[in-house]
Amino acid sequence: MSPYAHITGWGMAVPAKVLTNSDLEKMVDTNDEWIQSRTGIRQRHIASEEESTASLAKDAALNALGVANLNPTDVELIIVSTSTPEHVFPATACLVQDRIGATHAGAFDLSAACSGFIYALNMATQAIRSGSVKNAIVIGAETLSRFVDWEDRNTCVLFGDGAGAFVLQAGDEPGGVLSAVMRSDGSGGDLLSLPAGGSLLPASPETVLNKQHTIHMNGREVFRFATRVLVQATKEAVASAQLRMEDVQLVIPHQANLRIIEAAMRGLEIPAEQYFINIERYGNTSTASIPIATCEAIQQGRLQAGDNTVFVGFGAGLTWGATLVRWTGPFLPYRRIYPTSYRMWVMLRSQLLRLVRRIEGWIWGRNI
Ligand code: ACO
Repeated sequence: MSPYAHITGWGMAVPAKVLTNSDLEKMVDTNDEWIQSRTGIRQRHIASEEESTASLAKDAALNALGVANLNPTDVELIIVSTSTPEHVFPATACLVQDRIGATHAGAFDLSAACSGFIYALNMATQAIRSGSVKNAIVIGAETLSRFVDWEDRNTCVLFGDGAGAFVLQAGDEPGGVLSAVMRSDGSGGDLLSLPAGGSLLPASPETVLNKQHTIHMNGREVFRFATRVLVQATKEAVASAQLRMEDVQLVIPHQANLRIIEAAMRGLEIPAEQYFINIERYGNTSTASIPIATCEAIQQGRLQAGDNTVFVGFGAGLTWGATLVRWTGPFLPYRRIYPTSYRMWVMLRSQLLRLVRRIEGWIWGRNI
C-alpha cells in the first residue's frame, strides 16, 4: 500500500524590518485608512540588504526540521516554490540544499506564483506516495519587495517578504495530504505579471526605463477571479477527500486581501472561527503566505493533530489550487536533533567542495 505523506514539521522566517502603512504614506500618495479598508493590511516585513529569498527559505527550513526532529541529511527532496528566486539559475532550492546540509537531497524550484506552495505540497506528496522519497521539505519563499515599483501605489502597499516551510514524511497511518486540486488558465496571464527579465524581454535599458521588471497587476480582475476560484477549489478538494465542509476544522487561504478572503468564506458559508487570517501583519507574501499562516495557526492553538484543514490559494498564471490535509504533527521524537548545529560543518563542507573543484580544475586543465 502507498505510504501517506504526513506534515511533521513547520517553520517560518520573516525579515526583522517592518514597513507600516504610515511609513508608506511618506513614500506614495496613500493612507492607512485606504489600505486597511481595501486590503486588511497594517504592515509588512521587508528584507534587508543581507537577506534574500534563499536566506529566508533556509531559516524557515531549519525551523521546520527542528519541529520534525529530522536531520538535514535525512531529507531526499527539497522544493522551493517562489516567484522571486535568487537567480534564473541555479535554483534557489539548490542554494538551500547546500546551506542546510541536505547532502542526500534533490532540489528544484517551482513557479506557480501564489498557488505555488499548494502545487509544491502536492508534488512532494506524490513523490512520497509513489515510494520514491521518504522525507521532503517544501518551502514557499519570497522577497517581493525587490520586484515592487515603490512609486506605484496600486501595488506597493500589498506585498511583503517572508518564507514558510513544511517537512513531509512517509507514514503508514492514514492522514497527511489527502487530496489536491491544481488548475491554471494562461489566458489571464496578463492580469498579473512581471513582464521583463525572461527570454522574451531580456533586461535592457528600455525595460528598466519602462519599469518592466516590476509587478504589473489588474487588481479588479484578479479580485473577481480570486473570489470565484477559492470557493470552487475548496469544495473540490474537500469532495475529492470524500469529506464534507462540516468535517473541516480550519481553512487557511492565501493571504492576498482580507476582502477576497471574507467574500470567499461567505461563499462557502464558513464562520470566522473556521478560517485563519494574518494578512494584517505580513501583507501578501505570495507563496509564503499559507505556510506562514499555518505556523501562526498552530501557535495560537487553532490547528491540532487530527484536524482536517484546507489550504487554498490563487495567483499569477493564472493558477489556483487547494489541498485537504489531515494534520499530523511530529512523529514520535526518537532522537533529539539540532539541525542548526549542522551550519558550521555545512559551510566548511561547501568551502572544501569548492576548493577540491578548483584543485581538480587546475590538475585537469594542465593535462588537456
Ligand atoms: N492608496 C490610495 N488610493 C489608491 C491606492 C492606494 N494605495 N491604490 C489605488 N488607489 C485608488 C485608485 O487609484 C482608484 O482611484 P480612482 O477611482 O480615482 O481611479 C481607487 O483607489 C479605487 O481603485 P480600485 O482599483 O477600484 O480599488 P479596489 O477597491 O479594487 O482595491 C485592490 C484595489 C486592493 C488592489 C483590489 O483590487 C485587490 O485586492 N485586488 C486583488 C489583488 C491581489 O490579490 N493581488 C495579488 C493576487 S496574486 C498574488 O498574490 C501575487
